[in-house]
Amino acid sequence: MSQRTQTITARVFRWEPGGEKTGDFQTVHIPSEQPLSVMALLAKIHDQDGTFACRTSTCFKGICGSCMVRVNGQDVMGCTTLIQPGETVVIEPHSQFRVIRDVAVDFAQPVGDR
Ligand code: FES
Repeated sequence: MSQRTQTITARVFRWEPGGEKTGDFQTVHIPSEQPLSVMALLAKIHDQDGTFACRTSTCFKGICGSCMVRVNGQDVMGCTTLIQPGETVVIEPHSQFRVIRDVAVDFAQPVGDR
């Protein structure tokens, strides 16, 4: 019996200082047979492409808030938000903070709604 490898498809926001003002989305396919937290998904994307900037931070328990990103239009905790195999997600920087690069934001610089 053959078993197909499932994937998670992520459309991730890409932007770098000095680049295009509006940024763009990159589609990435990550093989996974099990649910992944958004944070784990972002780390795997970074492993595939070292130029992709994201936070790989600290508590993994929904306490510190340093993993906050925007997923499918909602600001969420990346460490406690699970993505299922077969799912497609759009991942952007958190809406309330200035973007440093890609989905990494500066939590010291709130900007309000984009
Ligand atoms: S890593 Fe601390 S809240 Fe997610």
